[in-house]
Amino acid sequence: MKFALQSAETPLKPEVCPVIGIYENNELTPHAKKLDSQSRNELTKFLKQADLQGKMGQTLFLYNLPGTKHPRLLLVGCGPKKTLNEQEFRKIIFTAAKALMVSKATKIAFQLSLEVKNHDTAWKIKQAIEVFSDALYSFNEYKSEKQPAITLQEIIFPVTDKKELKKCEKLFNQGIAIADGVNFTKNLANQPSNVCTPTYLANEARKLAKQYKNLKVTVLEKKDMEKLGMGALLAVSQGSIQPPKLICLEYKGKSSKKPVALVGKGITFDTGGISLKPADSMIGMKYDMCGAATVLGTIKAAAELNLPVHLYGIIAAAENMPSGTAVKPEDIVTTLSGQTVEIMNTDAEGRLVLADALTYAERFHPEIVIDIATLTGAVVIALGIHASGLLSNNEKLAEDLIDAGNESFDRAWQLPLWDEYQEQLKSPFADMSNVGGRSAGTITAACFLSRFAKKFQWAHLDVAGTAAMMGQGPDRFATGRPVPLLMQFLINKYGK
Ligand code: BES
Ligand code: MN
Ligand code: ZN
Repeated sequence: MKFALQSAETPLKPEVCPVIGIYENNELTPHAKKLDSQSRNELTKFLKQADLQGKMGQTLFLYNLPGTKHPRLLLVGCGPKKTLNEQEFRKIIFTAAKALMVSKATKIAFQLSLEVKNHDTAWKIKQAIEVFSDALYSFNEYKSEKQPAITLQEIIFPVTDKKELKKCEKLFNQGIAIADGVNFTKNLANQPSNVCTPTYLANEARKLAKQYKNLKVTVLEKKDMEKLGMGALLAVSQGSIQPPKLICLEYKGKSSKKPVALVGKGITFDTGGISLKPADSMIGMKYDMCGAATVLGTIKAAAELNLPVHLYGIIAAAENMPSGTAVKPEDIVTTLSGQTVEIMNTDAEGRLVLADALTYAERFHPEIVIDIATLTGAVVIALGIHASGLLSNNEKLAEDLIDAGNESFDRAWQLPLWDEYQEQLKSPFADMSNVGGRSAGTITAACFLSRFAKKFQWAHLDVAGTAAMMGQGPDRFATGRPVPLLMQFLINKYGK
C-alpha cells in the first residue's frame, strides 16, 4: 500500500476516489458542501433518498455524481456534527477502510474535513495510516484459493495548510514506519510453528539486518549457550529437535545516551512440555513467540525511521516440547546468573528463557530493559484483551510506558510488584521455584523475572491477551501489539 502526502492545491486525478464525511441527518462537512454546490445540490437531493443517515459506521459509494470528475465517491458517516474524540475518528477511518477493502477503487483521497479534539492534521494523518493499514491486513500465504486481492493501491492525504506540511511529513513517516513494523510482526506471528521455528526467527533477524545499514545481528547457538551456562534456556529447549537460538540485534542510531534493550519471548510453540497443556489450551500457542516478533517489528520501525536511539533486541527462541529428553518437573537448573531454579511446572517456560536473556542483556550495559512476553494466562483473566500487563522496578519507566500506550491506543495497565509476592516463589531445594501457585499468576511471573533484572531499569509487558486473538474458532490472528506502544515510547524519549 502506498501512502502519499500532497498539497490540497494539487488537483486529484479522476480515478481517485475522494472519501467524504457526512454528519448525522445528512448534514454536510465542508468538503461535502463543496461537492454539493459543484453538483448543483444533487448531493443533498441524493442524500434525501439514500439510506445513509450519516451515522457512525455507515458508508455509501456514489457513482457519477454530476459536477465532479470522479466517477466514484465514498461517503462515510461521522455521527452527530461536533468535534470528534480520538476513538470516534479512528472508528470512522476503520469503517472507510472496511468498505474500500471490498470495492474496486484503486486510489483514494481523504477529504473528511473533521475536527478532532486537541489534535491537528498531522496527528490525524498518523492515526489514519495506522488504522487503515491495520484494517486492510490479511494473511493468505497458505490459502490455495487466493481471496480476491485488494485493488486499493494508493491513499492520498491532501494537506491544506502549508505551514503544517513539515509536521505532517514527520508524523506521516512515523505512521508508515509503525504500520510496517506492525505488519511485519503480524506476518511473523501468524506463521505456523512448523515453519516458524527458532532457526526461522534467526533467519528473519538476519534478513532484517541486511536491509538496514545500522543494524547488526549475532546468533548464539546451543553450544555457545552451553559454554556460557544458560541452563534455563537450554532446559526449555531440550525436549525439542529444534535447536534453541539466542538472537541479538543491535541498532545503532545517532545517540549518546545509554542503550535500551528489548527482550522478547520466542517460544515458537508451547505444548507445556511434560506438564502438557490440554488440547484446547494448546490452540494459539504458535503465538507464544509474539514477544520476539514484537522486538523484530519495533527494531525494523526504529531503523526505518532512523530513530536516534541505541537499541538492542534480544530474542530467546526455543520450542517447548515433551519427549524423552525433555526437562521434567522438579528438575533443578542453574541459570546464567548463577541462581538455581527448581522447575515445578515445565509450562512456565517463558520466564525460564527470559531469565537467561535478561542476564545476557547486562553485557550491553543498558539503561532500560523492556521484556515483551506472552507470559501468563492469568493476565487474560485480569485484563482481558484490551490492555497489556505492565510490571516494573522503576516508577518513571512504568509511567512513560503507560503514557506511550495511551497515546498510541495500545494500552498497558500496571500491576504491583511488591516484595510480599516474592514469597510465593520459595523452593525447599533451589534458590527459587519457577511457579508461585494459583494466586496472582501474572505478578509472581514478573517477580521471577525481577530476580534477573537487578542491574537496570526494567519493565515487563505481559502481552498474552493483547498480542494475538487466540480463540478456538476461525477468528485467530496476531494484532502486532505492542509495537505501537514501544515505538511511541522510543519516539517520546529519544525521537524529539
Ligand atoms: N504461553 C503461556 C501463557 C499463555 C496462556 C499465553 C494463554 C497466551 C494464552 C505460558 O507459557 C504458560 O503456559 N503459562 C502458564 C504458567 C503457569 C504454569 C504458572 C499459565 O499461564 O497457565
Ligand atoms: Mn507455557
Ligand atoms: Zn509459553
